[in-house]
Amino acid sequence: MSTIPRRERLIAALDVPTAAEARALVERLGSAVSFYKIGLELSTSGGYYELLDWLVKRGNRVFCDLKLHDIPETVRRAVANLRGRGVTFLTVHADRGVMHAAVKEKGEIKVLAVTVLTSTGPADLAEMGYAGKLEDLVLKRALAAVETGCDGVIASGLEVAGIKEKFGARLLAVTPGIRPAGGDAADQKRVVEVAQAFRNGADYIVVGRPIRDAKDPAAAAEAIQLTVAAIFKS
Ligand code: C5P
Repeated sequence: MSTIPRRERLIAALDVPTAAEARALVERLGSAVSFYKIGLELSTSGGYYELLDWLVKRGNRVFCDLKLHDIPETVRRAVANLRGRGVTFLTVHADRGVMHAAVKEKGEIKVLAVTVLTSTGPADLAEMGYAGKLEDLVLKRALAAVETGCDGVIASGLEVAGIKEKFGARLLAVTPGIRPAGGDAADQKRVVEVAQAFRNGADYIVVGRPIRDAKDPAAAAEAIQLTVAAIFKS
């Protein structure tokens, strides 16, 4: 994991309504960010693939956060469509059939499994018919991610330590829900600070609003890069 260039450890989420606004934010961020996440909102607003190609062409890494979940054959064909475009990460839900199908077609793409959405709480699990603890389900699904050949998981800064302890080098851990010290958590419940996320074992962090909504997004991103640089030597 130490081979990850440290400036790539920060992934900025381009959570904006249109591809044009995403490009404007990328241009504003300049060299402060080199890895971007493009998700569901942009996928339904038009220009998703053009934005992806544009990012890859300008030398950025791209994380397609599409959280795929469908019958295995449909997932397999959807992942095949994404291959060869320079995508670095793609998310799928941690259903065994879904992960297996995605891994079969992933080629150069790294498949990350979403174990349990961070918006899901214990009461939601009970409603879905799961009797056990949320933490146990997360670990069970992380094990399934390893067994099906996924490259990593999305894990909150609080779950990441347990996942890394059990599956260590087998799974990359990508952690959203990051807030700078004293920042506003908004709708995120399981938030951690940048340094804490890495200390808990995260390989990458995903940061959305703390960068997007900052008065100076590039300065906010550079401040995070400084923290990253203090933790990782290279
Ligand atoms: O604005 P904020 O930093 O909370 O954005 C976090 C980003 O990470 C959003 O794009 C959100 O969709 C994504 N994400 C998350 N929790 C997950 C998976 C993805 O917050 N479990």
